[in-house]
Amino acid sequence: MRSVKASVLGSVLALLLLLREPACRGDEVASNTVNPCCYLPCQHSGVCVRYSEDKYECDCTRTGYYGENCTVPEFWTRVRQFLKPSPDVVHYILTHFHWLWEIINHTFLRDVLMRLVLTVRANLIPTPPTYNSKYNYLSWESYYNLSYYTRILPPVPEDCPTPLGVKGGAGLPDPELLVERLLKRRTFRPDPQGSNLMFAFFAQHFTHQFFKTYNRMGLGFTKAIAHGVDAGHVYGDNLERQLQLRLHQDGKLKYQLIDGEMYPPSVADAPIKMSYPPGIPPEGQMAIGQEVYGLLPGLGMYATLWLREHNRVCDILKAEHPTWDDEQIFQTTRLIIIGETIRIVIEEYVQHLSGYLLQLKFDPTLLFNSNFQYGNRIALEFSQLYHWHPLMPDSFFINGDELSYPQFLFNTSVLTHYGIEKLVDAFSRQAAGQIGGGHNINAMVTKVAVGAIKESRQLRMQPFNEYRKRFNLKPYTSFRQFTDSEEIARELEEFYGDIEALEFYPGLMLEKTRAGTIFGESMVEMGAPFSLKGLLGNPICSPEYWKPSTFGGKVGFDIVNSATLKKLVCLNTKSCPYVAFRVPAEEQSQRGSDDISIHTSHPLILVNTLFLLC
Ligand code: HEM
Ligand SMILES: *[C@@H]1O[C@H](CO)[C@@H](O)[C@H](O)[C@H]1NC(C)=O
Ligand SMILES: *[C@@H]1O[C@H](CO)[C@@H](O)[C@H](O)[C@H]1NC(C)=O
Ligand SMILES: *[C@@H]1O[C@H](CO)[C@@H](O)[C@H](O)[C@H]1NC(C)=O
Ligand SMILES: *[C@@H]1O[C@H](CO)[C@@H](O)[C@H](O)[C@H]1NC(C)=O
Repeated sequence: MRSVKASVLGSVLALLLLLREPACRGDEVASNTVNPCCYLPCQHSGVCVRYSEDKYECDCTRTGYYGENCTVPEFWTRVRQFLKPSPDVVHYILTHFHWLWEIINHTFLRDVLMRLVLTVRANLIPTPPTYNSKYNYLSWESYYNLSYYTRILPPVPEDCPTPLGVKGGAGLPDPELLVERLLKRRTFRPDPQGSNLMFAFFAQHFTHQFFKTYNRMGLGFTKAIAHGVDAGHVYGDNLERQLQLRLHQDGKLKYQLIDGEMYPPSVADAPIKMSYPPGIPPEGQMAIGQEVYGLLPGLGMYATLWLREHNRVCDILKAEHPTWDDEQIFQTTRLIIIGETIRIVIEEYVQHLSGYLLQLKFDPTLLFNSNFQYGNRIALEFSQLYHWHPLMPDSFFINGDELSYPQFLFNTSVLTHYGIEKLVDAFSRQAAGQIGGGHNINAMVTKVAVGAIKESRQLRMQPFNEYRKRFNLKPYTSFRQFTDSEEIARELEEFYGDIEALEFYPGLMLEKTRAGTIFGESMVEMGAPFSLKGLLGNPICSPEYWKPSTFGGKVGFDIVNSATLKKLVCLNTKSCPYVAFRVPAEEQSQRGSDDISIHTSHPLILVNTLFLLC
């Protein structure tokens, strides 16, 4: 349990660091009229406003703090600080004490805790959204123009000495070198939580409906202006595309039969723009909502499964509502597909990823009596954070064959050659890589990481420690505290010189991982709020929508309420292969040990913490 003294000491230390910084880096700040907001002086989400050349003010309204830099806690803030358990303690409890969760899973406490998880996480994400990459102050344009990704923290002002404000000294490390020395894989390290390629491709397939960086418009823009789970990866991100993909009969999507199995139609049948390597004729290209999904068999597999699911649900709705026209069946089926997606993501995907023993529940009614705001805007930070390329293995094992990257990527025949069953089975059995901890990105995709770092600099993202603070985490005070790898700490020290200059993406990827888990504290504490806000902020989760009639009556509502990954596969294939988000038990390497340093095993502390949580 932390004491007030410790917190105060922490704040003083942080303050000292802040104070020390300008002084000892002053030589690198060429002009003597540096924009004072470059120092990122306002703490606790206070807003920095510049007045004259060297004068600024922090707006601390409703931050719970006051003072020049919003550093002095108000009374109730102090009390809350004192009572709040640290994220590591909460995580430890949520992933230990089987006997306790055995009980909670079967009582009203499951609902109480699920509601708490949702509200605590979602409260960290503002609705309506605030900044974007052009506006580091509130503006109507930033609110209204959906072509921008939003920003949780405003970009560092343009006129600062460095991309990070004043940190980072003379220059930030060369991104290629950074990736080469710290992120590139040496030998494959499987995820200790047992994630498989079925999970990895789900992650990629699911997220690329709302991460569609639109560089043609400029950096920091998105093509996916629905900003959330709209199934645009199935139906296209605009109406014209959707109409080309639809059969215009019984609500269905166009398809083609290959060896008697349903696949997405060819581009000859549904003339839309798809990204394929040059030289592939329209007959050889598959028409899919998301234009890049032809490039990877894992994405083509999920595209095929959701296409089959859509058409299967159409048949069910048609039987229920013989009077409905094509349009109503299509629109209602789309809402069901969105509902199924959200259920699978929360109850299986996030459940797996979190490692929580609390059984997660997709139940929008949990939030009906809270002040949860519906709506969502995808953030640049979320897109950066989700670059989970370490998941990718060194080669792909399918049905006894080993495919190298050149054989797997852009190979349009893999999908139909093996068929959905064999791919699901293969991907469910092959381990994915651990995301955190460094040195685990296959050389074939390291340039994506380089691109992410370059993008973050051009868009002037704030340092990793600023994001730690924004998500209620303590900033790290040294590289040795940040990672337990001596080598990584030393390299980072050499690259950045100062923990305060560590960038967002390298920070997330290199932070020490929690024992036996896929990544570190920051990825969870920053990723979960974006994720849960996006899932529950969907319109179908709102009180006016969340009722049987929205989904075509009880039959459709039941489909949403009982959706699973296994059903998605097995109701749409002839045989039912092994399907899961983790490798089968016997193939899984042993879990990491529980060498956590927090002493929470004392039952009294446990009971105490639970009490405080409620
Ligand atoms: C072999 C598999 C993969 C390849 C070849 C690949 C390749 C790429 C490429 C070329 C980009 C665009 C980079 C740029 O424009 O600078 C990208 C972006 C991205 N990738 Fe991957 N990737 C793979 C797997 C994954 C997986 C498993 C995930 C997991 C979630 C993922 C997440 C992302 C994200 C979030 C982006 C940013 C998308 C955007 O903002 O539009 N990728 N990837
Ligand atoms: C507020 O922050 C600025 C810039 O970091 C610093 O110079 C100043 O001393 C701080 N003020 C207080 C009261 O801590
Ligand atoms: C959004 O902003 C971009 C860049 O300024 C502009 O090109 C685009 O037209 C804007 N979109 C809308 C809908 O106003
Ligand atoms: C509680 O739920 C979690 C996650 O589904 C599960 O691992 C755990 O075994 C459950 N306990 C019981 C008995 O329900
Ligand atoms: C594409 O995949 C098939 C297996 O489906 C394989 O036989 C073939 O060699 C691959 N093509 C290339 C160019 O690697």
